[in-house]
This record gives sequence, C-alpha cells and structure tokens, in this order.
Amino acid sequence: MTENTSSLDRCPMQPAHEAERQGPLEPEPPATACRPPVKARGLPVLGNVPSMMVDPIGTFARIAHRHRGAIVSVSLGPIKLIMPTTPHQVAHMYYDHWRKYPKGSSGGFYRPIRRIFGDSVVTLDGDDWLADRRLLQPIFSQKNLDNLTEEMIAIVKESLDALTPRAAQGSPLAINREMKTLAINVLTKCIFGVSLTKDENGNLGTLATEIFVLTLKRMFLFFLPDVLPLPSELALRRGLRKLDGALLEHLRRRRDEASPRKDLISLLLNARDEETGEPLTLRHIRDELVTFFFAGHETTAMALGWALYLLGRNPHVLEKLIAEIDTVLDGRTPTPELLKQLRYTRQVVQETLRFYPPAWIIPRICKEGDVIDGYAIPPDSVIAINCYAIHHDPALWERPESFEPERFEQSSSWPRGMYTPFGGGPRVCIGDRFSLLESQLVLAMFLQRFRPRLAFNKAVRMRGTGVALRPVQDIMMFCSPRS
Ligand code: HEM
Repeated sequence: MTENTSSLDRCPMQPAHEAERQGPLEPEPPATACRPPVKARGLPVLGNVPSMMVDPIGTFARIAHRHRGAIVSVSLGPIKLIMPTTPHQVAHMYYDHWRKYPKGSSGGFYRPIRRIFGDSVVTLDGDDWLADRRLLQPIFSQKNLDNLTEEMIAIVKESLDALTPRAAQGSPLAINREMKTLAINVLTKCIFGVSLTKDENGNLGTLATEIFVLTLKRMFLFFLPDVLPLPSELALRRGLRKLDGALLEHLRRRRDEASPRKDLISLLLNARDEETGEPLTLRHIRDELVTFFFAGHETTAMALGWALYLLGRNPHVLEKLIAEIDTVLDGRTPTPELLKQLRYTRQVVQETLRFYPPAWIIPRICKEGDVIDGYAIPPDSVIAINCYAIHHDPALWERPESFEPERFEQSSSWPRGMYTPFGGGPRVCIGDRFSLLESQLVLAMFLQRFRPRLAFNKAVRMRGTGVALRPVQDIMMFCSPRS
C-alpha cells in the first residue's frame, strides 16, 4: 500500500476532493535551510504547564493562532510537544507521510491507553495495525451499517420512550448525561447485542467513565511508573478487573451460542485471520470490543450533548432543523433512505463536530524526524495534532465562533487537514459513519418528540480532560414534548 492512496484513506465527513489549496492561508515553505520549530513563550522550567492546567484547549489554540504557519514547540516541563498549525501541515502528518507519524503506543502518551485497550486497532502501529485494520474494516461496511440501522432505530426509540415521562414533568434534564445513557444503550445493543436495564446502564456508564477519566489523566503523566500504589492506580486496576470479568464471560457465552446475530460481536466471532484462516482469540476480540465501546460511546454522546446545547444557543438553527425534520419525516420513523434526505440535520452534526470536536487533540510520535515547511522536527518528537485550534482559526473560517451548519455546503472546497474531527488518512476513525448515522438518527428522533430549551442563559464552558472535550458543568435543558 502506498502512503497516500490507501483504500482505508477516506472519511465521509471530510471533503471528497484531495487537492491542496494554496493561498495566503498556506505560507510557502521557505527556500532557506531548515530551522527548528518556533518555541512558544512560557515560564522558565515549567514552560506552559500552569496555563495548560487551567485551560489546555484555549492555551493550545492561542499558541497555534499566534504562530500560524510555523511548526511550534510547546514546553510542558520535561516534555516538548510539537504542534502543526496549518491544514497543510496536518495533512502532511495524517495523509502524505502517515507512516512517519505512528502512535508510538508502546510508550509515551499511549502507554496508559494500552492498559485499557490492549492490542487493538487503536493502539497498534505499523504492519500489525494494518493487518488488524484490514480485518476490522469490513465490519464497519455500509452493508453492515444498513443491517444495524433497524436495531439502532429500535433502541433509540426505546431510550426516548424512557425519557419522555421525565421530560413531561417539566424539570430540566442534564442533557449530556441523557445522551451518554442513550449512546451506551446504542453501543451495547449494536456491539454486544445486549439490552441494558437502567441500573445496568448506569453502572456500566459509571465504571467506564471512572476508567476512562483515570486513564486520560495518566496520558499527561505517562512518565509515572504503574507500580506506584497511588489511589488512582489502584482504582484503575479494580475497574479494569471488573470490566474484563464481565466482558470475557459474555464473550464465552456468545461463542457457544448456536444462532448468529447481527451485532458486531457476531461479526468478530466469525472473522478469520486473512493468512492463517484462524478465528480471533477471545482476548483479541475483548481488546477490539473494549476499544469500540470506549472510542464510540463518550465521543458520540459528547457530540449529541453539544449539538443540543448549540441548538439551544441558536434558536434560528433549531427552527430550521425542526422544519426539515417535520417536512422530510412527516411524523414517520426514519429509514436509511429518509436519513439521506436530512441534509441540514447532517450539517448540524458536522458543524457541532467542528465547533466542539470530542477528540480535540491527537497525539503521535515522529520517530525518525521530518521536515515540514522548512521546520525540522527532531527524531522522537511527541506530536500534538490540535484539531480544535484549526477548527477555530479565524484565518481559515469565516466567523469561526459562530454556529453555522450552512458552511458545510462549501466543504468540498476545503483543503485536507482543515476539518478533522475524526482524524484523517489511513488511521481515520473506523466508526465515523456509525457515529454519524447514530447522531443524525438521535437528533431527528429527539426533535420529532421534544423542543429543547436551555434552562440557563450563561454559556457552558468546555474542559479538556486528556484528549476529550467535555462540558465543565451539566447542560440543563427543558425538553417540552411536541404535540
Ligand atoms: C463523534 C464520534 C467520534 C469521534 C469524534 C471520533 C474521533 C476519532 C478520532 C479523532 C480518531 C483518530 C485517532 C488518531 O488518529 O489517533 C478515531 C479513531 C478511532 N475511532 Fe473514533 N470517533 C467517534 C466515534 C467512534 C465510534 C462510534 C467508534 C466505534 C464504534 C469509533 C472507533 C474508533 C477506532 C477503533 C479508532 C482507531 C482507528 C485506527 O487507529 O485505525 N469511533 N476516532
């Protein structure tokens, strides 16, 4: 496979055209010899640590915008992060030279992540990753997604049924939490083939959040050894033991079951290694499933929570969206065909992912060193691809702080690397279409039933917990049933 023409190299959320736009926003590489990355201003020794601890997302974005065009070096005490600042540089790393930018998941940032995900598609690198991705890619094919849609619609309906009496009571709902419950219901049904009770969902959600938050925090403290019996370390070990126990037991049961089902577990149990023809080991399936669950529920839940929040802040968008949903669906349950006609609904999801990308920063390693736009990236550099900063760069976007789904009418003219909520290149998110389908479906079905309204006027602040972009406080919304 060549570096930039892989069949895996696609993302439905990204512009189809691959031509690079050259212009005032993309500074020409200097003709002179290489220079080192530009150092971001910071305190002696501590560098940017103090401001990163208060506001990592804003700090990184300010640095990226101040040094637009350069490759920047951001000091975090003992660590130096190298950050691209233009779409062209991001495309260089994601698409054109992706092999030079592995995750380096046996060490650095990814070491804590590997403790949850084991050897799965999200943690592997090089040929091991490629073989794994080839094995899994067909599982997320359009055909399999179409097969899952009916199941997805049923579980979304069931979840909204459970929400309706509470919404009708008139008290505001913590919409981010409701979306998380819903996303867990969808994933556990579509991946594991399991319908959870409210309590089971709550317990799994709490356990998953606990494990994930502990791990994300460790991403920036990856240099601390795991043997230190810190309370957070002991809690993480307990959480993982509990999760693994339940999951492996479920997997053994499913392996011995006679009739096949439509969920992702069935597809994984039936998958065969391309070379050996052998089925996957239970441990391997466990690693992939845990990866899908963690990579898939919180990200999609955040996207949905933020979407409803942004709709609450932008009533004219909400009205336009409701009008589309009412016209296209006309009271009917969505189908894959009808979903295709919900163009504005899709744009609302896309614009939400620009505004609040759930994975706002993506780490990589540059093992051998590289040169981009005349800046020399030293070997073994830790890279931070900051899609939030690019998504909010006023030099790239008109009114970047304004929520305007219509801007996606023009997305085919955007350069690669300008819009990357799902990453890009061969390692683009494998669940992008799944998540887009789910988000579009949930928004449409939710707005068929409810008219959401924010319970407060104050803006909700965001917080970067590791790579995740979360609301600082609950998003409280009144959800009046529509007659
Ligand atoms: C709004 C929802 C989602 C967002 C914003 C998102 C974001 C991302 C991003 C940015 C990456 C690239 C990471 C990198 O390059 O290091 C990624 C990879 C991945 N995502 Fe997603 N994701 C979402 C939903 C999902 C879902 C629903 C699933 C599975 C059911 C999923 C599974 C994965 C996996 C397995 C990878 C690793 C792919 C690889 O390295 O080959 N994601 N995701």
